[in-house]
Order: sequence, then structure tokens, then C-alpha cells
Amino acid sequence: MNKDILIVYHSETGFTEKYARWLSEDLDCLAISLDSAKKQNLKEYKKILFGSWMMAGEVQRLKEIQEICPDEDNCVLFVTGAAPANFADNFTAIHTALQNLDFDIKYFYLQSGLNYQKMKFRNRMVMRMMNIMLKIRKPVGENEIMLKSILKNSFDNSRREYLVPMENYVLTGSEEQK
Ligand SMILES: Cc1cc2nc3c(=O)[nH]c(=O)nc-3n(C[C@H](O)[C@H](O)[C@H](O)COP(=O)(O)O)c2cc1C
Repeated sequence: MNKDILIVYHSETGFTEKYARWLSEDLDCLAISLDSAKKQNLKEYKKILFGSWMMAGEVQRLKEIQEICPDEDNCVLFVTGAAPANFADNFTAIHTALQNLDFDIKYFYLQSGLNYQKMKFRNRMVMRMMNIMLKIRKPVGENEIMLKSILKNSFDNSRREYLVPMENYVLTGSEEQK
């Protein structure tokens, strides 16, 4: 087992955890939840991969990243979201959030899906409200048309191969496959 790398994830409905598990198998390293990571001494790890998810344009619990990996050079962020990877708003949101933290690290966005069954009640209600809103008024612009089409039902678009650029970056410093 690679004891230099640690994966720390925050997940509510399981997608970020699934990506963390795939990463831990591919990189042969440990994956632990953010809550359990906060109780441990993480100083021995040379690289920490911090995973979380997008909610209404915000990366959940991102502020805790500096507590988990204070050194920019040792830290990589991955963020899951329902929107496809070509949805620029998510990249802008992640980029801006990191800028606001003054934390200059490499990040990767991974499309996941939606799981209405596993959502907390409050979040399920938020999504239902968004669905109703998009139903009663004509969607404005490409983004709203895309959102209307993906938000209706649970779906799973997570793919193990989406991790390849990140795994190459972690292992070689380059996203390209050698
Ligand atoms: C209330 C709510 C808001 C969401 N907002 C966004 C969003 O702004 N952008 C996006 O791409 N996905 C959004 N999603 C989808 C989640 O980011 C996606 O399902 C994520 O993978 C959940 O991670 P988890 O399964 O690890 O909890 C939202 C989900 C919920 C429940």
C-alpha cells in the first residue's frame, strides 16, 4: 500500500465516496471520510487528495481543505457534480472558491449524477423546487435547458475513466498518459 498518498472525501449521497474508492484502488492508498480525517494526524502523508461535491454552485466544506492539507504543493482537489464536464460554471465556481481561500492548487471536476433516494430531506426539497421552477417558466439560455433535462430524475454518469487525468497527474505530475 502507498503510504505517501491519502484520499479524504466528503460525500452525502455516495458519488464522491465512489470516486474516492476507485482512486484508492487505482493508487493503492487509503481513502477516509473528512470527519474521520479531522481526528487524525495527517503529517506523514506526502500527497492528500481532497474530494467533495457541488451544491448550488458551491463546493461543500471546501474551507476545511487547508486544515487537512495546509501545503499547496501536497494537495489536489476533486469535485463531483451532476453537470457534465463541459459545463463551464462549475469550473468558474471551483476556481473562484479556491482564489477566495488564496489556495492555489490543482483541481479536477468529475461528473457524477443525482441520487434522490439518498439525498437529505432538505436537499431533496431544494431539488424539487428547482424542478418546479424550471417547469413553470421557460428555461433561459443553454445552462437552464441543460439543468432542466438532467435534474428531473436520479441518474449515474460517474465513470472510472474520468479519473485517468487526475491519477496521471498525481503519479507523474502530468495529466497525459505516458
Ligand atoms: C441541493 C443540491 C444542489 C446541487 N447543486 C449542484 C450544482 O450546482 N452543480 C452540479 O453540478 N451538481 C449539483 N448537485 C449534484 C451533486 O453535486 C452531485 O449529486 C454530487 O455528486 C453529490 O455528491 P455525493 O453523492 O458525494 O454527496 C446538487 C445536488 C443537490 C442535492
